[in-house]
Amino acid sequence: MRDAAPTTIFLKDYTPFGYLLDSVHLTFDLSAHATRVTSRIAFRPNPDATDRTFFLHGEDLNLIRASINGTEVSPDVTGKGLTADVPDAPFLWEAQVEIDPGNNTALEGLYMSNGMYCTQCEAEGFRKITYYPDRPDVMSTFTVRINGDLPVLLSNGNPSGKGEGWAEWTDPWPKPAYLFALVAGDLVAHPDRFTTRSGRDVALNLWVRPGDEGKCAFGMEALKKSMKWDEDVYGREYDLDVFNIVAVDDFNMGAMENKGLNIFNSSAVLASPETSTDANFERIEAIIAHEYFHNWTGNRITCRDWFQLCLKEGLTVFRDAQFTSDMRSAPVKRIHDAIDLRARQFPEDNGPLSHPVRPESFQEINNFYTATVYEKGAEVIGMLKRLVGDEAYAKALDLYFDRHDGQACTIEDWLKVFEDTTGRDLTQFKRWYSQSGTPRLTVSEDWADGTFTLTLKQRTDPTPGQAEKLPQVIPVAVGLLGPNGDEVRATEVLELTEAEQSFQFTALATRPTASILREFSAPVILEHDHSSAERAFLLAHDTDPFNRWQAGRSLAQDTLLRMILDEATPDADYLNGLQAVLRDDTLDPAYRALMLGLPTQSELAAALHERGHTPDPMAIWSAVETLRQATAQHVQDLLPRLHSEALVDGPYSPDAQQSGKRALGSAALALTSRLDGGAMAATVYANADNMTLQLTALSYLLRARKGEVQLAAFYDQWQHDRLVMDKWFGLQVTMAAPEATPETAKALTGHPDFNWKNPNRFRAVMGALAMNHAGFHQPDGAGYSLLAGWLIRLDPVNPQTTARMCSAFQTWKRYDTGRQDQMRTQLSRIAETPNLSRDTTEMVSRILGA
Ligand code: PHE
Ligand code: ZN
Repeated sequence: MRDAAPTTIFLKDYTPFGYLLDSVHLTFDLSAHATRVTSRIAFRPNPDATDRTFFLHGEDLNLIRASINGTEVSPDVTGKGLTADVPDAPFLWEAQVEIDPGNNTALEGLYMSNGMYCTQCEAEGFRKITYYPDRPDVMSTFTVRINGDLPVLLSNGNPSGKGEGWAEWTDPWPKPAYLFALVAGDLVAHPDRFTTRSGRDVALNLWVRPGDEGKCAFGMEALKKSMKWDEDVYGREYDLDVFNIVAVDDFNMGAMENKGLNIFNSSAVLASPETSTDANFERIEAIIAHEYFHNWTGNRITCRDWFQLCLKEGLTVFRDAQFTSDMRSAPVKRIHDAIDLRARQFPEDNGPLSHPVRPESFQEINNFYTATVYEKGAEVIGMLKRLVGDEAYAKALDLYFDRHDGQACTIEDWLKVFEDTTGRDLTQFKRWYSQSGTPRLTVSEDWADGTFTLTLKQRTDPTPGQAEKLPQVIPVAVGLLGPNGDEVRATEVLELTEAEQSFQFTALATRPTASILREFSAPVILEHDHSSAERAFLLAHDTDPFNRWQAGRSLAQDTLLRMILDEATPDADYLNGLQAVLRDDTLDPAYRALMLGLPTQSELAAALHERGHTPDPMAIWSAVETLRQATAQHVQDLLPRLHSEALVDGPYSPDAQQSGKRALGSAALALTSRLDGGAMAATVYANADNMTLQLTALSYLLRARKGEVQLAAFYDQWQHDRLVMDKWFGLQVTMAAPEATPETAKALTGHPDFNWKNPNRFRAVMGALAMNHAGFHQPDGAGYSLLAGWLIRLDPVNPQTTARMCSAFQTWKRYDTGRQDQMRTQLSRIAETPNLSRDTTEMVSRILGA
């Protein structure tokens, strides 16, 4: 049962556990509703701890028996765990509990998915499996015996025995309980091998449900590439004889890095050209890499406590981004990451859920697996690398692995290896970990006597719990362009450390144009009053691909804001600049496709709000529609050429080159559909032999309010493929007209295939509703009440997924009082639901500002 008053945990209260664990032995007797878990744990007093309270976490467990050194004991048991009197010397703890995986819909602990047993223990799920000190700084080796009549029985580490109806696994590497995993099911393997650079032969397996064998090859290749890359770039080798990956359909997140036994949401690993889009392939490659890289950054070196989550997540996201840049196009990856950061992290950082990269308190840790911890956490590492340089970064990382292998660490440990290798004082830099909110960087320019002066100012608005902000260390990469577009000053990194600072560039012949925050060198909001002409100049000439793209993006945003506020017509500088870029076939097709993107409607709402206006979602939507229409007309003559450039010869491959061409072709098709009413999209749909083309063609047909026939045909073709059906559900909500969005979503929740207990399916509809800006924010509040009703229904079944999706309401204070009232009403309705989970309670009360 839930506590009446939720408790808050503070970073400052950390104390070590009173005991060390020498070994853990677990035996699982699997049974859908009565699994027995027997634990045998060797404890001894921890000489570094003062508090010797023997408390073991445990939730939803039925304690059958417990003993200490062979003598039965009767511990004090509560809903949170147990305490017992223990000797002041090494002792053996044994316990048996019974659990009910068949009724575990929360997908945390041991649960079942399609008849398969699987586990999810991060962050605090192991306590739903047995009584244990469930905290990441308690590490031990594990031996696991599984008794069950399913053909495949897996756990962490190396196999150490098996027979009819049982298997045993031994993990030689001490690990925290959150990395424990067990899988039992009727699974088939896609096997392969990898030889590490020191000659260890590793058996690789990707385990899937029968029928999914054809969707494994790509994931396996991505795994082998990741293993090689981590050896080449970070000098890190794999450290067991086997590496298993299991695909599971019911999973709250993308994937999980359990030692030697990664568990993946099917959507994050299964892929085939017929069923997956290019974007799916790219995401899968990145997630496989991410989980694999955790073996060193997360597993071999783990976190002391959950406040240090960014220690493993920020670093591992940074590493997987480096990997993607190396495998694909570095500028394209950087642009994708900036788009993603602005779409997901900026709203979080500048709203009621704002928290530091290293939070200082929480009620439910599951609510802190956020874009701030992950993506801003990775940006902070990128800044650190930029400030110290590549060589020093490599040295610091070597020291980190040498010094801390086998330990549970803190951000202080992480920064110390940089201080020790570079001699640099990182005290001020550390504010990136403790201060929440997105810094705003304002730029002003001055020109006199051959000297160009840039004055940079920084300011961060107050965020919940943090009224006063101190200046941060901001690396600002700057280059200067001459009047004909030559680079008169190559990129250099200015270090802004004060609230305001000026930087001079001397001995210049003419006034240059400044290209600021190249490569998106810091996760800040840049306010640079460039004129439309200067932006157009940068769009045509900037030698930094990121900023060249950014110039187009800023032009687009400026014109959209003027269209919304002043009923202006689309800006000619934007349209002409875009046209010139599209015509330039020396530019990578993927890059030109990105140039055709626009800021999201939610970003435009934020921009209006920041400028003191109340955003009207319908006005934003129509400005975007108008600009798209104008763009289609303006570049009409170029469209046939773009279509032909986007033609791919040879068999489908999801590589960067082919997918870039398809992205450009698809962007061109989107514009064409605005001119031909969807005629060409219908042809593309009819001839599509891969999901990328099929899905993009269908989406433009739906936007043209055509495509009824294709939508039905798509259903008939793919109704037996759950991952494709998620797309079918999501697309209809994404492409619905604003007025029709809530009704479309609602109708889909009545579809027989709307299995709302499956997180992927729930998110396909409800996530798409929340992301359809004008549709979600319909003035009658239909979108809000539909989502709230479903969140209330899902909460008792799956609190984690419910709580995450509450963030759809995080921007509520941006809007007009009518919409604010509607959203507040729905948030209160959720908050007042009896027995609401701790997860959702915390989210809703933070969003309401309570
Ligand atoms: N640690 C996982 C990752 O980043 C994410 C995760 C967290 C998965 C919690 C499940 C539960 O890769
Ligand atoms: Zn991770």
